[in-house]
Amino acid sequence: FYRAAASPPSSNFLLLGPSGAGKTAFTTLLEAKSSLASTTTPSTHTSQTSTLITVTLPPSVPTASNRYRSVNDPSLKEASRNPIKYRLQDTPGHGKLRASQGIAELHTMATSSDSKSKLRGVIFMVDTAALVDEAVLRDTATYLHDVLLVLQKRSLGKGRSSTKRAAEIPVLIAANKQDLFTALPPGSVREKLEAEIDRVRKSKTKGLLDASMDSAEVDDGEDEVLGDDDAQGVFTFRLMEDVGIKVDVTGGAVKGDPQEAVGSGVRRWEEWIGMCL
Ligand code: GTP
Ligand code: MG
Repeated sequence: FYRAAASPPSSNFLLLGPSGAGKTAFTTLLEAKSSLASTTTPSTHTSQTSTLITVTLPPSVPTASNRYRSVNDPSLKEASRNPIKYRLQDTPGHGKLRASQGIAELHTMATSSDSKSKLRGVIFMVDTAALVDEAVLRDTATYLHDVLLVLQKRSLGKGRSSTKRAAEIPVLIAANKQDLFTALPPGSVREKLEAEIDRVRKSKTKGLLDASMDSAEVDDGEDEVLGDDDAQGVFTFRLMEDVGIKVDVTGGAVKGDPQEAVGSGVRRWEEWIGMCL
């Protein structure tokens, strides 16, 4: 059996994250790589709408289904003739557009029963040079908290109504801009986000957050807590695994010279995508 060459890709990825993180730059780079056109990334500007693009996974990137094949495997040749494609949805990160776009699309895609357009993963991109700023950190963590809460509700909600848990939707925190010398390394990005999400979580539980911090969750009257029911412990991304959501933090850079090995360009993010396929 051969994969039908003309069938549209059925794997979707959603690209979220605050404004200026580099989402559109990443999208543009993947699109350029896919079309074998010039790989220079044109300058971007703040996005106001979402865009859906089709991307070709480089044949050298392993996928979950072919990770054990050898270089001599004929299926590797097959893969370069008939490469795997997926779709990536770029969203605007501006605070005022999140509820109506990023979070709304996450809701739609995560709960869609259409097997032809499965959400395989969420990529949450952050600017690792900007996280030293308290306001940026708080804004980023608040958005990420809301994203994880949507996924947690989906995961737990389905499990309650039937014996089968909803298919896992993993999250990649793409720690972008590792080319900048002011960038925080992925390890401290993880720590800072965990500590800040913990603060967001605690203040949400106490109901101290004002209406400007609203998320899609506010109106359904439930105050579910991210990670676990008793918010006594400190939040870690490991807690999300208990509710079926795997979170990875991986460094990279859309810009800058990938040969310099600083963050190895976008290769490790492509490898994460490959493992979801
Ligand atoms: P919104 O559309 O507002 O949500 O932002 P965005 O996440 O789409 O950001 P965008 O792709 O427009 O990038 C913002 C700026 O960061 C642009 O000037 C990019 O050129 C720059 N940028 C993106 N990735 C990198 C990177 O890896 N390193 C450096 N130094 N700059 C980057
Ligand atoms: Mg953009």
